[in-house]
Amino acid sequence: MGSAMDPKPEITIVDDAAALADTAARVVVEIATESVKARRRFTVALAGGGTPRTTYERLAAPPLREQMPWDRTWIFFGDERGVPPDHPDSNYRMANAALLSKVPIPAGQVARIRGEADDAEAAAAEYARVMTEVFGSRRGELPCFDLILLGMGIDGHTASLFPGSPVLKEVFRPVAAVHAAAASIPQRFTFTFPLINAAARVMFLVAGSEKAKVLKAALAEPGSGLPASMVRPTSGRLTWLLDRPAAALLPKSR
Ligand code: 6PG
Repeated sequence: MGSAMDPKPEITIVDDAAALADTAARVVVEIATESVKARRRFTVALAGGGTPRTTYERLAAPPLREQMPWDRTWIFFGDERGVPPDHPDSNYRMANAALLSKVPIPAGQVARIRGEADDAEAAAAEYARVMTEVFGSRRGELPCFDLILLGMGIDGHTASLFPGSPVLKEVFRPVAAVHAAAASIPQRFTFTFPLINAAARVMFLVAGSEKAKVLKAALAEPGSGLPASMVRPTSGRLTWLLDRPAAALLPKSR
């Protein structure tokens, strides 16, 4: 492990997307079990996009479903698209179909971002308020998630933090409404870096050869302009869980 201020990212490479889902789901159960032992609850933010779906399906099936402390689990979303929860592009919809509708988690412990909101700024502020309430955070204090799951796009975006977006410089708000011109659904809601970097554990799930080039750049230059490389937990652990095709361009010495 690197310095407490800048922990060196841990990189785990597995054979393929199926192995990545197996490993990711097992790690989620481990962290959930440890968190409940230590703090009597597990707080996790789910990633959107396509890569995490299989991980969620693994968690919703035996044996892992029975090993998860669902009654003490709180679920949030790291980002959402500006669409209703039943829209095909809704991250909530994906997670609900793959996981939430299949496990005994109390409905009150699933906090979704109101992607359908007309007033996006108000919806982002509302989500931050709900989070602060659940965590019991004092004013100005950032909630510390036990685990934040993230993906990465081929442009190096993560959550809905896109290259060149002003939100990359956000230092106060934990959640922001953003307009991502490059995205299929430009209206987005996203965790900001202060909130992501305040987490105890952050885990990237990255699969597929199409991600190899940007992954190499993101890992080669931490803190470079690529949003994914700006994820640097202040004192938490950062794990990159990769499949072999995505890791193909990484220096062997790693
Ligand atoms: C989103 C995601 C986004 C995602 C990447 C990777 O809402 O789109 O949160 O950050 O993780 O775009 O997406 P894939 O896993 O589908 O490649």
